[in-house]
Amino acid sequence: MCGIVGYIGDKNCVPILIEGLKRLEYRGYDSAGLGLLYNGNASAIKSKGKVSLLEDKIEGLNIKSSLGIGHTRWATHGEPSEINAHPHGNDSGSMFIIHNGIIENYAVIKKRLQKLGYVFKSDTDSEVLVHLIDDFHKKGNSLFHSTRLALSQVDGTYGIAVISKTEPDKIIVAKNGSPLVIGIGDDENFIASDVNALIAHTSKIVYLEDGEIAEVYKDSFMAKTITDEDILKEIVQVEMDLDEISKSGYQHFMIKEIMEQTESVTNSMRGRLLVEEGLAKLGGLKGFEDQIAKSNRIIIVACGTSWHAGLVAEYMFEQFAEIPVEVEYASEFRYRNPVILPNDTMIFISQSGETADTLAALKEAKRRGALCLGVCNAVGSSIARESHTGVYIHAGPEIGVASTKAFTSQLVVLALITMLIARKRHMSLADGKSIISEMATLPAKIERILKLNDHIEKIAEDFVNAKNFLYLGRGYNFPVALEGALKLKEISYIHAEGYPAAEMKHGPIALIDENMPAVFISPKDSVYEKVISNIEEVKARKGRIIAVASENDDKIDSLVDYTIKIPDTIRMLMPILTVIPLQLLAYHIAVKKGLNVDQPRNLAKSVTVE
Ligand code: AGP
Ligand code: GLU
Repeated sequence: MCGIVGYIGDKNCVPILIEGLKRLEYRGYDSAGLGLLYNGNASAIKSKGKVSLLEDKIEGLNIKSSLGIGHTRWATHGEPSEINAHPHGNDSGSMFIIHNGIIENYAVIKKRLQKLGYVFKSDTDSEVLVHLIDDFHKKGNSLFHSTRLALSQVDGTYGIAVISKTEPDKIIVAKNGSPLVIGIGDDENFIASDVNALIAHTSKIVYLEDGEIAEVYKDSFMAKTITDEDILKEIVQVEMDLDEISKSGYQHFMIKEIMEQTESVTNSMRGRLLVEEGLAKLGGLKGFEDQIAKSNRIIIVACGTSWHAGLVAEYMFEQFAEIPVEVEYASEFRYRNPVILPNDTMIFISQSGETADTLAALKEAKRRGALCLGVCNAVGSSIARESHTGVYIHAGPEIGVASTKAFTSQLVVLALITMLIARKRHMSLADGKSIISEMATLPAKIERILKLNDHIEKIAEDFVNAKNFLYLGRGYNFPVALEGALKLKEISYIHAEGYPAAEMKHGPIALIDENMPAVFISPKDSVYEKVISNIEEVKARKGRIIAVASENDDKIDSLVDYTIKIPDTIRMLMPILTVIPLQLLAYHIAVKKGLNVDQPRNLAKSVTVE
């Protein structure tokens, strides 16, 4: 969850590390720290809270160093505090480590090391690593091999960086289950948990794989496996624009990313719509199309917002591809005894491509012989690389912790996969043509919805003090209700529930009174009249109602308190439009409550721990 960054070269690394940490802060942000080698010494400077506090602290010290590592933490073991912040040092203060992940057997190792006289200062699991490496180093092993030997005793996940004044010309890095990359520069090299942190300096990237460890010098690097086998790593050229990871004049990343959806949805479809053939072209699936189309069942696995995208896909696949679908929480799937049958295809949806639960479920599914297809945003991410085949959603970097543009792009890609399968099975050319043509109209419709921003901001004013919210929708819009509620919960801390509208009468209706706002997603579709009945039921109990409705719906205004009117599309694509007003509503309520929408409390962008 945390961010890792490091530099080795001739420049002063302090500003480079601070800038890198700021780019990574969305991943974890309860404390931050730097570990530096300078004037023959090693030291760590740490601070509780945001990177800017660490920056203030370091400015007064006037330190210049050409080798350093930096970390922003998302606490798993031990409260967020300066002591628990990384880097963690050995007893003599000559060596420092930063760690992302969880060391599961830390308690046993800690006890053993304490018996040997090692003194622990923090409550973290990570601190065992530095003492364990130190123990091997004291026995005469090089820093590289000490790290390697230490990691071979560890269970759990790690992205780790190690520096020591005993070998002041290198940074050691290793990966298992948490991301770690090396950035190659001219007479300088970088390390990071995320390409975003390096893109201002280099686009030449080496992706470490699980079980790999590397020694990084200023002008070269060497990699091995943890079991000491030699390996050759490829240097990959990544394409990312610095502008894509800055706020470009917006107050928050979240609103920038909501407003970008005309473009991000266009990018997700670019080159993939074959209107005349009524087909979707997905290069990533080449060679696997027939196998996927012949599947007896599709199992979709994901977490959070990506899981909601999976629920929408269930409706799509069943309606058009006529394949049975199951949608699973990754965290549940991995610990059950999931039954995988021959001819099952599994789809793993993940914006970051690094979510630990989804990644573990993918590995388990591969072990059991399923065909695994990844739908990811982050190019080169672990899930993208581990899958047999896959499709990138091309939404561009998503920095705001609350996922917005990734969701709509996931839906676009899932619709394209549906089309690919459906046309190979039963769908006619005419139906294919009409759906693909409809997809092409989405960007213009999104543009019109985004123009409702001011209107939605006004509505938000009336709900700043709400304590609870109910989101209700049916069919394709049921998952949208779940997603709208999740967005509000995450960033405004208002309790919100999403329900299939008709389920309301089986329980939640007891909650309705004048203090319980209800958001209905009620475009004019086949279940419209039914949803109107549900609206009447809430109205009869004095609930305040916001409706996301069709532009041409004149009837609804007299039934509800607030309407947000949006353009129509076919049912399958409707969630791509209906979710956008809900993203804006959550955003404006949170901003009006004075909350930090990009970095909501307790959350982190990619959940690389269980
Ligand atoms: C979305 O707003 C959340 N922050 C969260 O639910 C997220 O969707 C989930 O953690 C899955 O992330 P992924 O798509 O990167 O795997
Ligand atoms: N488990 C470590 C800790 O709690 C690392 C957490 C992280 O990945 O930020 O300090």
